[in-house]
Amino acid sequence: MRTQVGIIGAGPAGLFLAHLLHRAGIAAVNLEARSRADVEGTVRAGVLEHWVTALMHELGLGERMAREGHFHDGISLQWDRRRHHVDIGALTDGKRVTVYPQHEVLKDLIVKRLGDGGEIVFGVGGTTIHGVDTGQPSLSFRRDRDGNQEVLHCDYVVGADGFHGPGRQAIPPSLRTEYQKVYPFGWLGILTKAPLSWHELIYANQDEGFALLSTRSPDMQRMYVQCDPADDIANWSDARIWHALHARLETGDGWRLQEGEILQKGIIPLRSFVCEPMQHGRLFIAGDAAHIVPPTGAKGLNLAVADVLVLSRALEAKYRRNDQAALDRYSETCLRRVWKGERFSWYMTTMLHRNEAETDFERRIHFADLDLVRTSRAAAMSLAENYVGLPFD
Ligand code: FAD
Ligand code: PHB
Repeated sequence: MRTQVGIIGAGPAGLFLAHLLHRAGIAAVNLEARSRADVEGTVRAGVLEHWVTALMHELGLGERMAREGHFHDGISLQWDRRRHHVDIGALTDGKRVTVYPQHEVLKDLIVKRLGDGGEIVFGVGGTTIHGVDTGQPSLSFRRDRDGNQEVLHCDYVVGADGFHGPGRQAIPPSLRTEYQKVYPFGWLGILTKAPLSWHELIYANQDEGFALLSTRSPDMQRMYVQCDPADDIANWSDARIWHALHARLETGDGWRLQEGEILQKGIIPLRSFVCEPMQHGRLFIAGDAAHIVPPTGAKGLNLAVADVLVLSRALEAKYRRNDQAALDRYSETCLRRVWKGERFSWYMTTMLHRNEAETDFERRIHFADLDLVRTSRAAAMSLAENYVGLPFD
């Protein structure tokens, strides 16, 4: 097999890249370890920055999102049993975010990619990267996991293969630096068949800990509570989860959280991570392969799409005009945005969680930060601008 760009992974980074390259007339193949059903069924991110929504429309991928997505021009921050509305629209010249689940985005990306004649090989095993520091890189893999080994020859390899994929590992350890922060808490997330409780997302920091109220559709809601990252989900009965959500979200003014049947529940740890650089020879890594953010800022998927937008433009300059400069600067260009995403995600996470390892002094500083957003237009604008998506450099 031969293509121009061999992409490991068919998550948001890998699939957006395939579409962007297709628009630029560049051929690509995605190799994906999971089945199509698994990729389309995994519940993860929910919030799209305003420019990602616009990009979906530009790529002809926006139709279902326009019908089924939810458009939010504000969020609520809650502490001290009081809820404060951050008017994101007014603070950002009318910008808004879209709540449209990652797996729905992926379904739309997959259908259109296959419809455009693109190739996504699902269920591959043993993906191995070869020769990225030569002029002839390739990827070897097995179709259907136990099939024969095949080779995909290409001009460039992209590791869009998430945090655990082989992409980052193919940058020699002596040439990469990894920066990491692990938080002492995780999120227990649920999907519940319940009516909408509030018209916008609520990020709450109460004495009991953090909670987030999000949505999926008028009768399906997504909620999270802070928990011990090492805890076993078996320790969390439905009754215990609702008790924790009520304790953290209720305001004391008569507002009630609407309960429903819990259809899915799971625990994720929270971490911040960056690998520098994001390239080596003819290998480029993008999205979670290169950086992880805790989900409190809703930035992970958005940063992944930003990386591949930069990469697609750089590859276009190389193929069209034989101009290598933007490819050489890929990592540097991406990392400027990545570190701002890391900063915002860390800020939202530390400000909104209860951290037993912190002193009371630090906890009071977090409440001062929250109150600053309530009382200072400059502070609120900064939060809003980061939340909807920073302008591109
Ligand atoms: P992935 O989605 O991890 O995709 C990588 C793909 O590569 C996977 O499909 C994997 O199977 C495949 N792969 C791995 N190894 C191999 C291999 N050896 N061979 C072939 N294929 C391989 N982000 C937001 O922007 N907004 C949010 O609101 C938000 N909320 C979140 C909530 C939760 C609970 C979680 C867990 C995450 C959230 N995120 C959010 C983060 C977001 O989901 C990720 O940042 C995003 O999925 C990154 O996309 P990616 O394509 O880089 O990686
Ligand atoms: C979600 O709906 O899953 C979601 C929303 C906002 C976040 C994180 C996750 O910050």
